[in-house]
Amino acid sequence: MALIALGVTGGIGAYKAVEVARGLQKRGHDVVAVMTHSATKFVGAVTFEAITRRRVITDQFETGANSDIEHIALASTIDLLIVAPATANVIGKLANGIADDFLSTLYTATRAPVLLAPAMNTNMFAHEAVRKNLDTLAARGVRFVEPGEGYLACGWIGKGRLAEPDEIVAAADVILRPASPLRGQKVLVTAGPTYEDFDPVRFIGNRSSGKMGYAVAAEAVRRGANVTLISGPTSLEPPAAREVVQVRTAAEMHRAVMSRAGQMDVVIMAAAVADYAPQRAPQKVQKGADTLTLVLHKTPDILGDLGHRRLSSAKGPVLVGFAAETENLLARAAEKRAKKHVDLIIANDVARSDAGFDVDTNAVIVIGPDGSEPLPLQSKARIASDILDRVERVLAAHGSRTDQGTSQVRG
Ligand code: C5P
Repeated sequence: MALIALGVTGGIGAYKAVEVARGLQKRGHDVVAVMTHSATKFVGAVTFEAITRRRVITDQFETGANSDIEHIALASTIDLLIVAPATANVIGKLANGIADDFLSTLYTATRAPVLLAPAMNTNMFAHEAVRKNLDTLAARGVRFVEPGEGYLACGWIGKGRLAEPDEIVAAADVILRPASPLRGQKVLVTAGPTYEDFDPVRFIGNRSSGKMGYAVAAEAVRRGANVTLISGPTSLEPPAAREVVQVRTAAEMHRAVMSRAGQMDVVIMAAAVADYAPQRAPQKVQKGADTLTLVLHKTPDILGDLGHRRLSSAKGPVLVGFAAETENLLARAAEKRAKKHVDLIIANDVARSDAGFDVDTNAVIVIGPDGSEPLPLQSKARIASDILDRVERVLAAHGSRTDQGTSQVRG
């Protein structure tokens, strides 16, 4: 739990700061609201007081409240200073060291990390003076949550609307989270289905949407990993990975993964790769007889190949596979973990309507060296985070085993 000073300045988005305070509290943080004089024209201090259950600081020179020099006392105890919304005026003051009220004085006095969520009219946000002040603050290590685009309170349409409270809370979380062991690690994630063409217009595919794999890739990016995402056909927007490779077939995915796996620290195979593929006819198959027989050939088992390759070398990436099953989930998943020689298997019951393919939630069982652990139904983003917590543990154990050169045999 952290102590966070939430600076609220005089922009129309000030009402959203109430939700930011609530969001931070829901994550277990303690919040002190610091309002500028003009912020109190938009939202009453009493609102923040009721939410934070603390006195709201609105004045630099309030008598009787505290015999300490309050901005110095608070400056040395907070873990983070957030300013949301941050107006052009306050950004200008912070960039130039002007300390003429509690918030600007707190900024100059604290050594805690600072997160600003600018919000203003589009032209103000684009103004050279504001850009220069933002650059100055960024060069000093201040972090930002970019304003959104859309309809602004002033009637304009453009960039300048305060970011959503959820985004601001998530950005605060990233700053407060202890450095992840995945930071700087090379992580390859596969996602989505593969399509196996049997003529130029038809293919055999599966119902994977790619949402689980994309959530894992996004969470790895959030933890500071160097992510390579190898994706089958999906309609999803990829996260800010270092490399995104689009593939179609199991054979293409096999080539894309095998040529990169040697440089990876972690490989997570969340893709639903076809196990069998047809021959591709050069021209469209014509309608004729009552039945049509397609002959399917086994595709290369990418994860299995990686597992076997790792068996014969002293070092190799941490390997994570998914087992999508409709029956005998645990037994089949455990069997896959042993057969493919991987560290973790994420067993996924895809017969459920609220988990598995093409929904935003999932419930899985993680099978690892220490047995199995169920992760209950929650968003795919949270499941991704829980999976990566387990990957971090394996990575730590893996690192120490390979340092001793004894990583050849895995559970
Ligand atoms: O053997 P099965 O396909 O059920 O195993 C599932 C796991 O193996 C998943 O992690 C999937 O991405 C991976 N896989 C693979 N190559 C295949 C088929 C599946 O790497 N050809």
